Amino acid sequence: MTRSAVIPGLHDRVSELFQAGTGTRRVSVREGYGLWASSYDSDPNPLLALEERELELLLPGTRHKDAIDLGCGTGRWMRKLLSRGVRSVVGVDLTPQMLARAAQDGRLGRRLVQGDCLALPFRSHGADVIVCSFTLGHVPDVVAAAHEIARVARPEAEVFISDLHPEAQANGWRCAFRCEGRSFEIGGHPHARAHVHETFRSAGFRLRRSLDAFIGEPERHIFVRGGKDAWFEAAKTVPAVAVEHFILDARPGARVRGNRRRPLHCAC
Ligand SMILES: C[S@@+](CC[C@H](N)C(=O)[O-])C[C@H]1O[C@@H](n2cnc3c(N)ncnc32)[C@H](O)[C@@H]1O
Repeated sequence: MTRSAVIPGLHDRVSELFQAGTGTRRVSVREGYGLWASSYDSDPNPLLALEERELELLLPGTRHKDAIDLGCGTGRWMRKLLSRGVRSVVGVDLTPQMLARAAQDGRLGRRLVQGDCLALPFRSHGADVIVCSFTLGHVPDVVAAAHEIARVARPEAEVFISDLHPEAQANGWRCAFRCEGRSFEIGGHPHARAHVHETFRSAGFRLRRSLDAFIGEPERHIFVRGGKDAWFEAAKTVPAVAVEHFILDARPGARVRGNRRRPLHCAC
């Protein structure tokens, strides 16, 4: 596959997205997800499907755990965390339209906050599980993000980060979608995997697992449904999603007395 190959990115109905000169408009995170919000959940998306089946296997038992979903979007992982029995979950996202979609689910309404991963509106040392799904690649400063995640995490908290795989990006896969017949690409900040690992280590985490996830048979029907079955075999050959699992070291002094068993709450 070459850089100009036409392959599905975060959307399976794209046809011309990765070819030059087709009128794809590059947009900011807020504008892009503002436009995408209304169809984000209904657009068949092989990358989200792949990520779900891989990440669900890694998530710990979540009972009695307080969780944060960073870049929660329409609340996909919040719903999953709730169904796994977390004691509390809050979601933070930059884009009001994505949060508005999430809020349509009555279980999520009071658990959502608009905010930036780089300045989380949460108290320190309150979360046992943190999911950051397809979001870090939009964050310009991974060092600041890692330190902010470390701040809100409890010692031994588990952090799961997924993103479009760097190799897929190198092959031309993009965070792209169509809206009202027009093609859009949302700008990103690809971070080298080694840099992410090193940065999180410096912020106090140890790497538990780093996983390359490949499109497989479970995603075939999504390609077929989008009329893109011809791409399926090629798409299977590129690692599509990168998943990192970090654990925050239990550092002396990291625990905040009295915080450990109180549910997480928004500071806003
Ligand atoms: C691809 S969507 C992922 C949504 C959700 N995590 C999921 O996997 O379905 C990326 C989300 O990250 C949000 N986002 C991007 N940069 C952010 C930042 N710096 N702080 C908070 N949210 C951000 C966007 O608004 C968008 O909703």
